[in-house]
Amino acid sequence: MQRKIIIDCDPGQDDALMLFLAFASPEELDILGVCAVTGNVPLEKTKRNICILSDIVGNKNVPMFAGCDKPLETEGATAEYVHGVDGIDGIDIFDPVTKLEPKGAVEFIIETLMSAADSEITLVPTGPLTNIATAILREPAILPKIGEIVLMGGALREGGNVTPSAEFNIYVDPHAAKIVFECGRPIAAFGLDVTHQVFTTSQVLDRISKIDNPVAKASYGLLSFFGRYDAEKYGTEGAPLHDPCTIAYLLNPELFELKPCNIRVETESQLTLGHTAVDFWGSTGLPANANWAHRVDRDGFFDLLVERLSCF
Ligand code: BDR
Ligand code: CA
Repeated sequence: MQRKIIIDCDPGQDDALMLFLAFASPEELDILGVCAVTGNVPLEKTKRNICILSDIVGNKNVPMFAGCDKPLETEGATAEYVHGVDGIDGIDIFDPVTKLEPKGAVEFIIETLMSAADSEITLVPTGPLTNIATAILREPAILPKIGEIVLMGGALREGGNVTPSAEFNIYVDPHAAKIVFECGRPIAAFGLDVTHQVFTTSQVLDRISKIDNPVAKASYGLLSFFGRYDAEKYGTEGAPLHDPCTIAYLLNPELFELKPCNIRVETESQLTLGHTAVDFWGSTGLPANANWAHRVDRDGFFDLLVERLSCF
């Protein structure tokens, strides 16, 4: 059965790979819309990037929406030092044929959820959670319509990637993340603990380079660029495929191990702003509000990615 999803992202090379994986999987996923939010680069670029990526996958039916251009309360931060000035450096930037819908992303999310059955829609946010939190604040009646929120964000054992304790998506808009983690709907959270288990290697890039279609060629360019930052910072061989973990989970949940945990988000401390306090061992006695991904079948993950990139 197809799962109805709304994707909310901030491309970003790994967001791009996440979109490629989703668009390669029409049997499993019915993508109702793709939303852009300020994150890796400002909204002006993320909204253009979703349209470029839509062109690359040959999308004609899935609508694209622009969302919030700044976090709820903080100044935010962008990550050109990781993703390049365009966010999707590694491919040529062009004027996309795909156009944004006139409606805004928050309006689209609210309208789609309000006309859905209870638990019918899965939200897949892979950027800061500003659009999703704004929709919840504006229309709390959308909550029962959300079947699951499958998000990329947070860190426990790995520590942070933007400060010692905070992961980028949560750090950029911690107040939005707090709203989402406290919303009471089922959440599957893919943080650095698991995404740092899926760094690309030269063997993976080699497999992708042998696939002869435009999406695989774009993937090769994006990943070659994206890999350089983490290689320098973490001494790893390649690029961390953070965001594609969300879609891989929807396609094959068996690839991952998740544990129900209580997760709270730090919104006050300057030192640890955006930290996700994941109560992995149940120390607080607080009820679990999310499933925390902590292990992935790496080979299975890359087999899935290569198989789906070959579909275009
Ligand atoms: C997350 O932040 C961004 O840099 C990536 O696109 C990913 O969503 C990883 O911390
Ligand atoms: Ca992202």
